[in-house]
Amino acid sequence: MDAVVIQAKFKELFGVEGAVYASPGRINLIGEHTDYNGGFVLPGAIDKAMYCAIKPNGTNKVRGYAPDENPEKVSLKSEFGLAEADKPKERWAQYIFGVCREMEKEGKKVPQGFDIIISGDVPLGAGMSSSAALESCVGFALNDIFGLGFDRFQLARIGQSTEHNYVGVKCGIMDQFASCFGKAGSLIRLDCRSLEYEYFPFDPKGYKLVLINTCVAHMLGGEYNERRESCERVVAAIAAKHPEVKLLRDANLDWLKEVSNKVSAVDYIRSEFVIEEIQRLLDTCELLKKGDYEAAGRKMYETHTGLSLKYTVSCPELDFLNETAKKCGVAGSRVMGGGFGGCTINLVKNELYDEFVQRATADYQQQFKITPKIYDVVIGDGARKIEQR
Ligand code: GLA
Repeated sequence: MDAVVIQAKFKELFGVEGAVYASPGRINLIGEHTDYNGGFVLPGAIDKAMYCAIKPNGTNKVRGYAPDENPEKVSLKSEFGLAEADKPKERWAQYIFGVCREMEKEGKKVPQGFDIIISGDVPLGAGMSSSAALESCVGFALNDIFGLGFDRFQLARIGQSTEHNYVGVKCGIMDQFASCFGKAGSLIRLDCRSLEYEYFPFDPKGYKLVLINTCVAHMLGGEYNERRESCERVVAAIAAKHPEVKLLRDANLDWLKEVSNKVSAVDYIRSEFVIEEIQRLLDTCELLKKGDYEAAGRKMYETHTGLSLKYTVSCPELDFLNETAKKCGVAGSRVMGGGFGGCTINLVKNELYDEFVQRATADYQQQFKITPKIYDVVIGDGARKIEQR
């Protein structure tokens, strides 16, 4: 559903026109599971977004519709108040509710109820951050229609806290940041400790970025949070001797070695991956500046190996697509986002593109009896208003 269709749907349901907003999903070229460790990430917003049409309704209730949801499984409609006790039971509505609650905690109350429709074309469960896109879209829209005065940093934080407190995933800031700050044609090199960022123009001449969606999602709620806890335990162990270490970003491999017999083998190897990945991102940025995409691509393969063997967030489907990319001579390939399913991101020379996509589709289909989905990446703009009413 695009902006025009969502506007028409809003009129059909509520009899008036609403304002329409969009906020995109994201890719991340390299730097995975580094954000909540204070490291660097290199995301970009994409041309797929979550949309909302919205209008204040003068009551103390939110009336929401999610017409894209499968009507067999979930309710399309949700009505709820804005107090903590009013949490709706529909999962999609909890994102809207959570954003309102987090805004109030930040000292700016959503002053009245509103009517809202949400929709979008960010594939769900594909590692392209549909939930961050939704949080950012709702946050941006509420901020605008009620003149709440939050800036984009605060809106990204509000989205992240919604995820922590109303969805239960203790995510980092990358996804919401990319959704709020995206810029067409540029990746964002974000320092997740200081939140300093730099737009990194990305136009790899002679190469394409393509996502291949395994169309599986194996993530169990706690897997992500467990990895975060591993990192925190290791930080605590290192900080006993080096109190300046507050996050794995502040540590190095030598200090990690010092605690090898104080932390579990699993926590150790996960932290080793994170420390290596932070450095790998910095090295990759240098390679990209030189236009050495083959060497940058090799870093992406290293990330995949680390995510698969050390951080253990890959799965057979993702490993298979990664191997296929290697066999086809693709410059770089790796699991993207949180892992446990979703997409691989691939940096492919133009002349290899057709053969790679055909072979990956056919081989994956044969192996897993699932047809993977292919998305060419277009780096687009961040959260924005589409139509004024
Ligand atoms: C998910 C989280 C992000 C980040 C990635 C892994 O997308 O929402 O904060 O941690 O996983 O890099």
